[in-house]
Amino acid sequence: MLLTKYVDKLPIIPTQQPSDKIDGFYYYKMNMQQFKQKLHRDLLPTTVWGFNGNYPGPIIDVKRNQNISVKWINNLPSKHLLPVDTTIHGAEKDVPRVRTVTHLHGAVVQPESDGYPDAWYTNDYKVVGPKFTREVYEYPNRQRAATLWYHDHAIGITRLNIYAGLAGIYIIRDPAENFLCLPKGDYDIPLFIQDRSFNDDGSLFYPSQTDPPNPHVNPSIVHDFFGDTILVNGMVWPYLEVEPRKYRFRIINGSNSRFYNIYLSNKQPFYQIGTDQGLLKSPVLTKEILLAPAERAEVILDFSRCWGQNIVLLNNAVSPYPRGEEVDEDTTGQIMQFRVVKHLNRMDYSLIPHRLTCITPWNENDAKVKRDLTLDRSEDQYGRGLMLLDNRRWMDKILIKPQLGSIEVWKFVNLSNATHPIHIHLVDFLVLDRQSFDVEHYKETGKIITTGPVKLPDLNERGWKDTVRANPGELTRIIMKFVPYTGLYPWHCHILEHEDHEMMLPYEVIY
Ligand code: C2O
Ligand code: CU
Ligand code: CU
Repeated sequence: MLLTKYVDKLPIIPTQQPSDKIDGFYYYKMNMQQFKQKLHRDLLPTTVWGFNGNYPGPIIDVKRNQNISVKWINNLPSKHLLPVDTTIHGAEKDVPRVRTVTHLHGAVVQPESDGYPDAWYTNDYKVVGPKFTREVYEYPNRQRAATLWYHDHAIGITRLNIYAGLAGIYIIRDPAENFLCLPKGDYDIPLFIQDRSFNDDGSLFYPSQTDPPNPHVNPSIVHDFFGDTILVNGMVWPYLEVEPRKYRFRIINGSNSRFYNIYLSNKQPFYQIGTDQGLLKSPVLTKEILLAPAERAEVILDFSRCWGQNIVLLNNAVSPYPRGEEVDEDTTGQIMQFRVVKHLNRMDYSLIPHRLTCITPWNENDAKVKRDLTLDRSEDQYGRGLMLLDNRRWMDKILIKPQLGSIEVWKFVNLSNATHPIHIHLVDFLVLDRQSFDVEHYKETGKIITTGPVKLPDLNERGWKDTVRANPGELTRIIMKFVPYTGLYPWHCHILEHEDHEMMLPYEVIY
């Protein structure tokens, strides 16, 4: 079914109000439910999962340093909306099908509030996972202003829970940012991009089998998933009417596997001002931005010379990335449309300052520990391909134990043929560099022979990150400091089909 593009308005996602203020904490209730929502004019209402009746969930909008607590309530039915593969670790036959635990991606929080994959629970906490400790999560928000997002993280079914709709945006604002005079209020708009496929009756389609089907497992996890339809803020190919002025857009790739290389149909350059963990040092003028799953980009689009134009946000990233199929120009090659038809409401006094923030990098020489971590391709017991980190699995002994307060350099040695967006909980990091190396030689000898020059990260990657693209045949190095909490946290590939299929490991920050 081909849906007509640009017939529905871009939904402005509601902002969640706290339900109470207890001991100086704002207290939020986020109720996970199943309901029907119209995702396109010509599509019957789709059964989705969401928070407080919205897919994607309402925006939690907080100020830096303002403590909040959130009760993520599982009010979901006991039957899953999508096919559950019970051969996946954590999703076995004897555990309940519908389990949830919410993680705030990019947040600095204690392990008990981080949404550990084994800290899941069912409706009304009737059954809880082995690492479940508490019902109410605390978010101190003691970190830079940034666009974060919350999403489900239940072991073995994260891809399905997020695909069903369990994700939303969380914005930390810093009043100090006001001095920058960036576009704000109605001119500061989050764009949450996801790809989906639909059945004729409007229901979500998610594959229950690999192609060709696995003879031993049914339903089976797939290597990756690419929907044929693009949604922004929960609407299929929406349009947004804009004024001829500057806008700030917070773009979040909330897709399971799809990368987007975004650009504008009029080839207009634009400024990227922020990345995963907030503002860049200075704006970066660019014509395109590559976003892997979970990466974010904040941009300023200036429509002031575009009166009357329809400008389309396009995508030309292959899938899987970087050795996959071209996008279809009429479908996945398009994201949304801007119509510059509104009259200027008031003068646009917003600015694009030369200097946005200061970034003081860690020094590599201060790194106590340097780790080489391979990204491998392997096979599971059913003959299905799977990807691993450090050739290990989730339940293996934990080898990575950084000391509290220490700086480490991690080098991802990508032996596979895919780019993996590697995400580490708790910390934000800086990308040091990338370099190509001889993969075959490494596989034979375990030794690295580099085959190209050291490449600095892209200009728009030179800010604080929590997710980094590790390309095939390349070494990708990042530097970070393990503060301020001790305990167990996951790190993983953010291609959700990889994450669910063992491309995730715990690490432990120790005293
Ligand atoms: Cu966005 Cu561990 O996740
Ligand atoms: Cu995270
Ligand atoms: Cu991956």
